[in-house]
Amino acid sequence: SRRTTVRDIAKAKARGEKWPMLTAYDAMTASVFDEAGIPVMLVGDSAGNAHLGFDSTVPVTLDHMVMLAAAVVRGTRQALIVGDLPFGSYQESPAQALRSATRLVKEAGVGAVKLEGGERSADQVRTLVEAGIPVMAHVGYTPQSVHAYGGHLVQGRGEEAAQQVLRDAKAVQDAGAFAVVLELVTAEIAAEATRSLHIPTIGIGAGPDCDAQVLVWTDMAGMTDWPGDRTPRFVKQYARLREVLGDAARAFAEDVVGGAYPAEEHSFHRRPAQG
Ligand code: KIV
Ligand code: NA
Repeated sequence: SRRTTVRDIAKAKARGEKWPMLTAYDAMTASVFDEAGIPVMLVGDSAGNAHLGFDSTVPVTLDHMVMLAAAVVRGTRQALIVGDLPFGSYQESPAQALRSATRLVKEAGVGAVKLEGGERSADQVRTLVEAGIPVMAHVGYTPQSVHAYGGHLVQGRGEEAAQQVLRDAKAVQDAGAFAVVLELVTAEIAAEATRSLHIPTIGIGAGPDCDAQVLVWTDMAGMTDWPGDRTPRFVKQYARLREVLGDAARAFAEDVVGGAYPAEEHSFHRRPAQG
């Protein structure tokens, strides 16, 4: 069967159907989510933290993203794959954004790209859309600006800030984005944006009223090792993968050290001598 398209996503909003999105960074994990029916996967620059061992998304390069996105495309058959444009690959100009997005489309095979920013990125969104590349926007808290924020802060709590989030969401819709991520904004603003926009809103830490919800897969599956053991309020852990994998590794180590693995059934033997 064919992949999810941006048209399917537009129809879901018209029908009032909610949908899930997960991040993915490698082919095998992505294939699990594809088989589970996750219709849209984001090869997020959260790979910086969740896959590449950096402490933010800032060091992630376009080369990293092309490699990871290509793997996720290869590992999936049904999902729409969205590739994140990393910090420094689109802010300079719409032309730079188009060059970078083109690499994700041609070299990795993604069906859409994502970039951060509302009003400030509207020209980039318009240029990519005019070139035929579907764009998912991302407003509210935008992690590539972590150094400017000085922390992971909920956006739009005051009236002024709330209006800015709404203006940002409207700006990317007007520029032609097919969907917009709302990250770390109040449930009230997310509800208002979802009501007033005709494109779907995808929430993360944005309350229950968005058209879709996204989580970083390692957070969703309980793989992430949170500093000080403190899981953020918006994360729900649907498995305890960190414990499961750790237990498997410890059991393997114990078997090797104790001689229980490999056993007879894991071993090969020479052929008996011929007559
Ligand atoms: O990189 C990412 O995973 C994201 C999502 C959290 C929206 O941008
Ligand atoms: Na991202």
